[in-house]
Amino acid sequence: MAETSPGRVAPEQRETWTHNTGFILAAIGSAVGLGNIWRFPGVAYESGGGAFLIPYLVALLTAGIPILFLDYAIGHRYRGAAPLAYRRMRKGMEPLGWFQIMLSFVISVYYAAVIAWSLSYFVFAFDLRWGEDTAGFFVGEYLQVGDPEVSTTIVSAVAIPLVLVWLAVLVILALGVANGVQKVNMVFIPLLAVAFAGLVVRALTLDGAMDGLDAFFTPDWGALTDLSVWIAAYSQIFFSLSIAFGIMVTYASYQRRKANMTSSGLVVAFANSSFELLAGIGVFATLGFLAFQQNVAIDELEGLTGPILSFVTFPAVISQMPGGNIFGIVFFASLVMAGFTSLISILLGVAATVQEKFGLSRRAAAISVSAVCAVISIGLFSTTSGLLALDTVDQFANNVGIVLSAILMTVLVVWVVRKGELLRSHLNAVSTFPLGRWWLALLGIVSPVFLLVMLGQKLVSLIQDGYEGLPAWYIGVFGWGTIAFVSVMAVVLAALPWKGRDEPDFRPWPALEEEHRS
Ligand code: PFF
Repeated sequence: MAETSPGRVAPEQRETWTHNTGFILAAIGSAVGLGNIWRFPGVAYESGGGAFLIPYLVALLTAGIPILFLDYAIGHRYRGAAPLAYRRMRKGMEPLGWFQIMLSFVISVYYAAVIAWSLSYFVFAFDLRWGEDTAGFFVGEYLQVGDPEVSTTIVSAVAIPLVLVWLAVLVILALGVANGVQKVNMVFIPLLAVAFAGLVVRALTLDGAMDGLDAFFTPDWGALTDLSVWIAAYSQIFFSLSIAFGIMVTYASYQRRKANMTSSGLVVAFANSSFELLAGIGVFATLGFLAFQQNVAIDELEGLTGPILSFVTFPAVISQMPGGNIFGIVFFASLVMAGFTSLISILLGVAATVQEKFGLSRRAAAISVSAVCAVISIGLFSTTSGLLALDTVDQFANNVGIVLSAILMTVLVVWVVRKGELLRSHLNAVSTFPLGRWWLALLGIVSPVFLLVMLGQKLVSLIQDGYEGLPAWYIGVFGWGTIAFVSVMAVVLAALPWKGRDEPDFRPWPALEEEHRS
């Protein structure tokens, strides 16, 4: 039996999004984040400019959307945050759920730090406090980056906004899915769309904007033969769509049982990529203006990626722009809104997991998870050595951890526990956009093969060349250590006894014949 008529829905106690728009906006809120504004433009520019759109689209269509659907199917059918959902699929799968959630946890602690910086810069934008030397201000005066690679000196200018971010996370999580997370997204996402559209329109009217777009879109076809460009495209898609982190599994688990999952997924993926492209256009139009002001070509500009782009180069442009402080205020407010809605999605995944595994109340889970994350995040990333640690952890979590997670997930679900056909029937039973067997071919063959080759290449390059010339012990602790920590914790946490309601009588809905065959 391929398709089933869904039949009657059994009542359930699990909290749900109150309407489909709530789910879609929350899922867009998770996807659209710092990754779109702070990561994509620089990655695209460095990896072939216009030509990058090819690996980007290939990654989106062959892995991004298929894995997004897989996340949705698992969460929606098995109705739990990742560890519970995987456990209900097959008991031995629980560690995979923990692996994904631990990876999310690692990301959340540094992601919050970047939101805290954005919050500070939002305030600085009112009087352009960064002055003329924006690099000196960011690294020296603000972050107070010091000599030792590891330091315990806390910088209060970073720690204070970071505490505020964690308090806000705590309140939203304690309010729950419908009253907390959904409401924040219903307000922030439309606001963000308007704010960002305003920024892009303003950027496009600046002198030099078109040269910026030229630099961004001019394809360097040679880049397509470089495997690292493809890795960058896949990592960007995973991070940007929030997939293979267990987070979309959790979000889908709160979706009502009768809900059109695949069509919603297409809306989310399309909205995310549109926003990403728009951010690329806005950022490069603005950089075109900077190049015009300095009378240089775009490729002579420095600091076009990562934190430096948003916190050094952008402030410099803002200072030179007529009406720059308004642009700055809106830009940093957009970063805060985009980042915050993503951060709460990550933390909802972690808190729901703790709640389900240890049988805690929603509030107790929210408080304990926010407190632990806040302490780690303040201890590691508001110190004078935070910037370096952040960059190294980001590199390993996103280029190694998440690729590994996607490989494990696709191979185990399709080939080991053999639930691919069942999950396809599930999605088709509830959705209007039907998935053919091509979906399973992409998940079971195309994605893992591509991803394995890329992971192999990345590992070889990290082992042979290290990262950014950092000493081996540092890469060992913050880079490989991150991967080891996530893996060990996944096994240990899965091995702990399940204290929450395990519901041995849990029945997935709709009942499907494939369930008995797999
Ligand atoms: N998708 C978010 C962004 O693009 O910034 C980041 C993110 C959110 C990554 C949720 C992972 C995740 F589970």
